Amino acid sequence: MRIMQKPNTTDITNTKVAKNLASPDFFEYHKKFGDEWTEKFLEYVDIPLRKSIRINTLKISPGDFFKNFPYEHAQILWSENAYFIDERKIGLKIEHAVGLCYSQEASAMLAAEALDVADGNLVLDLCAAPGSKTTQIAVKNFSGTIVANELNLKRAQALIANIYRLGITNCIVTNYDACKFPDLFKFDRVLLDAPCSSLGTSRKNKEILKSWEYKFSLAISKVQKKMISDAFSHLKKGGILVYSTCTTPTEENEDVVKFLMDNNSDAEVEEINLNVNCEKNEYGIRVYPWHNDTETAFVSKIRKK
Ligand SMILES: C[S@@+](CC[C@H](N)C(=O)[O-])C[C@H]1O[C@@H](n2cnc3c(N)ncnc32)[C@H](O)[C@@H]1O
Repeated sequence: MRIMQKPNTTDITNTKVAKNLASPDFFEYHKKFGDEWTEKFLEYVDIPLRKSIRINTLKISPGDFFKNFPYEHAQILWSENAYFIDERKIGLKIEHAVGLCYSQEASAMLAAEALDVADGNLVLDLCAAPGSKTTQIAVKNFSGTIVANELNLKRAQALIANIYRLGITNCIVTNYDACKFPDLFKFDRVLLDAPCSSLGTSRKNKEILKSWEYKFSLAISKVQKKMISDAFSHLKKGGILVYSTCTTPTEENEDVVKFLMDNNSDAEVEEINLNVNCEKNEYGIRVYPWHNDTETAFVSKIRKK
């Protein structure tokens, strides 16, 4: 079911601009994905993205939320208490401001679900701002603790504001470079939602297509490899690391996970079994816009043996 949304007159959706906007590097690089892939990807960029939310069950049940705010909605099958809704401006509504719900893109909910958090877990979210996944985990991990880390101070403030707005009390915010996070504790779960070239958010922001350069992906890939190695070092034996990005280049996704595997004999990729249409490979899952009418995501789940 596709939740239809009211036309938004203030943005440029519905106009066929993606093809004209995309950088020469975008076309050149994605040749290896095939012409059909490129056509489809750009076609979806021009289709308005559905709005989605998570209901904050610390404050209200989904039933009571929709009784009070009767938006047309459809359940998101891979995430708990999450819905596509027929309201583009939910982020400006009072129910959002007081923390009854959290506006989050649906494919961005996959990483926290793959983390498979058990109640009572000690969780480290290494690149946490503005807190979509931190808050998603915190609501699930009711009796556990989450350490939400963010390097950028301004973004860390947004993270704190979101934690506060949702009434979350099991979260500690830190301000380290993810590659220099102190080795004081080992964690049951580590999430590395890495900084990336963000091509998979082009339905929300077409400008990403215009500025993408292959050299940026190559450069950030080196940082991501350092980050994933450090992230893995903070895990307890038997613990789970989830690595995720919202971009397409292999250099930022499978190659990063392969680097970790090549250098850590105790790292093992586990299958992700969520109720989502996707492509699976030996390193994780790829979700493209045409699979579920969302944005793009790569998610990998790694166990420390
Ligand atoms: C993809 S965003 C994270 C989104 C967040 N996980 C969420 O779901 O709301 C990546 C974040 O990593 C932060 N970051 C970049 N380099 C970092 C570093 N070396 N250490 C820690 N955080 C970093 C960025 O400022 C950005 O907020």
